[in-house]
Amino acid sequence: MPPMMTQRPKKLIATLSGSIQKTPPVWLMRQAGRYLPEYRKTRAEAGDFLDLVYNPTLATEVTLQPIRRYGFDAAILFSDILVVPHALGQDLHFEENAGPVLGELPSLQTFKESVFHGKLGPVYEGVSSIRRQLDQEGFTDTTLIGFSGAPWTLACYMVDKKGSKEFISTRVMALQKPQEFMALIDLLTEAVTAYLGAQIQAGAEVLQIFDSWAGVLPPDQFRQWVIEPTQKIVAALKEKYPSIPVIGFPKGAGVLAAEYATKTRVSALGVDHTLPVEWADQTLDAKLPLQGNLDPCVLQAGGEHLERETHKILETFRNRPHIFNLGHGIDKGTPPDHVAQLMRLIREQA
Ligand code: CP3
Repeated sequence: MPPMMTQRPKKLIATLSGSIQKTPPVWLMRQAGRYLPEYRKTRAEAGDFLDLVYNPTLATEVTLQPIRRYGFDAAILFSDILVVPHALGQDLHFEENAGPVLGELPSLQTFKESVFHGKLGPVYEGVSSIRRQLDQEGFTDTTLIGFSGAPWTLACYMVDKKGSKEFISTRVMALQKPQEFMALIDLLTEAVTAYLGAQIQAGAEVLQIFDSWAGVLPPDQFRQWVIEPTQKIVAALKEKYPSIPVIGFPKGAGVLAAEYATKTRVSALGVDHTLPVEWADQTLDAKLPLQGNLDPCVLQAGGEHLERETHKILETFRNRPHIFNLGHGIDKGTPPDHVAQLMRLIREQA
């Protein structure tokens, strides 16, 4: 390319760099998944969920499925946050209709980086393969997002050993054995930094850190277990890969979302649907890109609710960098037509 010709940045990257666009870029958390018949077909072929996750060819296929159907501005690596505990040596399986079940917490003295990367090789291969496939199918403007669970949310699953609403065992351990818990968080901070760095090297253009259970903590512990580790991960990544934006998603953070954004220095903040959009717009730095925050149940309900809520979000965030998304992952009962309707509502704005 001649030196004067610069490529137009992709839509999502432009927003993350602070530009305000007439039609915001859009992608949906859990956009590849059981609400899509083509996902259910590939999933049945793979057999087990983890066989799908660790198969780069099939993971590429399911990542591309929602892009082909809806033309989202970003593809998100098809994987799961729990591959990190798995690669650290904790047993993991997914039970039909019950969710993840983990084995005993392994003794974790030091982080063995080469063993860890060895186990996650198929995920990194998947990242490269997804980027190649997007380009091959002409989705050259589609940004590839890599992700990880945040240390706190990963620790929740590792200590409680299954899904929960409160993660009582984890919270009690953090209080009763603070040193042991701190060692776990430190190790996860190192592992997540290495994991995200490897995804960048494999071709991820943007990263998202899911802190799905940030909302169960009171303020002081939120600072200690959510903000501090995330701040370290973001700083380490920015030093090594300054051009790669990191989106932080501290689900349920409430008013602490503001402190999270300032202190972690994430490039953009994912806001869930319990946060009032007016509050978010007025309280958070006008230059900070916000991502969100349609209630997944509104998408599932469709119709007038969907129209009204979508317009409200678009209108409120009109004068700031905004990435349209849900406030949490899409539910498996969502009619695919409702997603098509949402895309029309967003893109007909222009
Ligand atoms: O967004 C995407 O399309 C990429 C894929 C993705 C999955 N999980 C696939 C998945 C991503 C980004 C995740 C993240 C994830 N996984 C989170 C953080 C986001 C959030 O939802 O808060 C969490 C907490 C998990 C852990 C997890 N994985 C649980 C609790 C479950 C069971 C619940 C369920 O929906 O069954 C999973 C399984 C899972 N991860 C599925 C998918 C598509 C369903 C598995 C199936 O096909 O049977």
